[in-house]
Amino acid sequence: MESTLDDLKTRRSVRKFKDEPVSKEDLEKIIEAGTYAPTGGNKQSPIILVTQRKDIIERIGEWNKSYFPSELLDQMGDVDPFYGASTLIIVLADSNISTCVEDGSLVIGNMLNAAHAIGVGACWIHRAREEIESLQGKELLKVWDIPDNYIGIGHVILGYPADDFEPVENPRKEDYVINLDELL
Ligand SMILES: Cc1cc2nc3c(=O)[nH]c(=O)nc-3n(C[C@H](O)[C@H](O)[C@H](O)COP(=O)(O)O)c2cc1C
Repeated sequence: MESTLDDLKTRRSVRKFKDEPVSKEDLEKIIEAGTYAPTGGNKQSPIILVTQRKDIIERIGEWNKSYFPSELLDQMGDVDPFYGASTLIIVLADSNISTCVEDGSLVIGNMLNAAHAIGVGACWIHRAREEIESLQGKELLKVWDIPDNYIGIGHVILGYPADDFEPVENPRKEDYVINLDELL
């Protein structure tokens, strides 16, 4: 229990990886943790897409970059949005379910924390919604045999943290919590 709390507090986004694929065993543990996220009404609508193929990850990375807002392009330049990660996960969820965004986000949260707990680096990468709602995204849903009402929630990149990866301090803001009892 204590170690769970510790893992939650020490998880940081990892954006620099070793050139080593995530093992099947580690990947399965992370994905399984995602599938155990709570979902509204236990509908379990999210779908977890996973690839470890470099060519596919690079193609989706280019696609993802095409949705960078211009100020981010200026700031980040010619960066790989997936930071050379060896594993890419995309979480989709059924837009017909009113809690789909919350459900999919919890799936991603579980995977980020599970990855950290077993020594795998992870980071949420944005713009899955833009990808999937595009014409190309709709075509891909067909190819993957996924109904076209599914929306993109987010990507998770995974890899073993590079030796020189230094987790940055990320203190919590002071006014995170308001104790209502003290206001009454
Ligand atoms: C909804 C969401 C979208 C994010 N999108 C990106 C992204 O596109 N690229 C990236 O490098 N990090 C992204 N992040 C990671 C955040 O930048 C990171 O979680 C935040 O800076 C806090 O740092 P920490 O994860 O190390 O605690 C995203 C995180 C969330 C929750």
